[in-house]
Amino acid sequence: MTNHFNEMSKLLASLGRKHNLSTVFNDFLTLGICSYHRTNIQTRLQEVDTANEKLYLQTLKKYDKNEISIFPKILGELQLQVYKHPYSDILGEYFTEHITRGENGQFFTPTPICELLAKLSVEKQTVTHKSILDPACGSARMLLRFAKDNPKNDFYGADVSNTCAKMSTMNFFLNGLRGEVAWMNTLSMQWYGGWHINTNGIGIIPIEKEDSKIWSNPLSPKSDEPEMGQQLTFF
Ligand SMILES: C[S@@+](CC[C@H](N)C(=O)[O-])C[C@H]1O[C@@H](n2cnc3c(N)ncnc32)[C@H](O)[C@@H]1O
Repeated sequence: MTNHFNEMSKLLASLGRKHNLSTVFNDFLTLGICSYHRTNIQTRLQEVDTANEKLYLQTLKKYDKNEISIFPKILGELQLQVYKHPYSDILGEYFTEHITRGENGQFFTPTPICELLAKLSVEKQTVTHKSILDPACGSARMLLRFAKDNPKNDFYGADVSNTCAKMSTMNFFLNGLRGEVAWMNTLSMQWYGGWHINTNGIGIIPIEKEDSKIWSNPLSPKSDEPEMGQQLTFF
């Protein structure tokens, strides 16, 4: 594991001494998403999103001043990790090692297998201008690995777990994947929330189900061919 993973783990653990570690990790993801909300300076100057600010302040409420100062440091470690090792997934590593330890089937595909699948999914040429979906995406590491070789596509990830959807959203944003993450049950199509990421050059934007391509284009149970247009699907 890298220094940044170790530093991020230490910082999260320091908050975990007083608070539940799973809550701390979840709050960190929420704060990250709020921080990258519409990261376009022009838009920020023009509009104040009160819902986003309310969520940000509400999330911080349970922490004292010293604890609050730790969250930007965690984000800094994550950003440095992505800067030095693009398309890596330390959020997913941390989640499986310290939070779920494999509960609820949340073992993510090991990186070498993601690499193999990404290579096997395409012919010799790079894939471009397609929709790439993982309907049970975990931390989105399969999509990340595919994007490393084939960045010029639209990426879609869905997961029934709120933490997984938020890890994916952060991973999409920091690695420059353009597309959508849905927090939803892709079998029952129950919708809980979602985000557009890096679309129109603007950071992370919360969406309703009516704006979601994943929710409006369910995988067809009758056909092997997904209905989302030209699409590669991972599971
Ligand atoms: C084994 S993990 C695989 C994650 C990822 N595709 C990978 O390869 O690393 C399975 C994921 O499916 C999610 N999941 C299970 N049932 C689901 C459902 N009905 N709708 C959406 N996601 C689901 C779980 O929360 C978990 O994150």
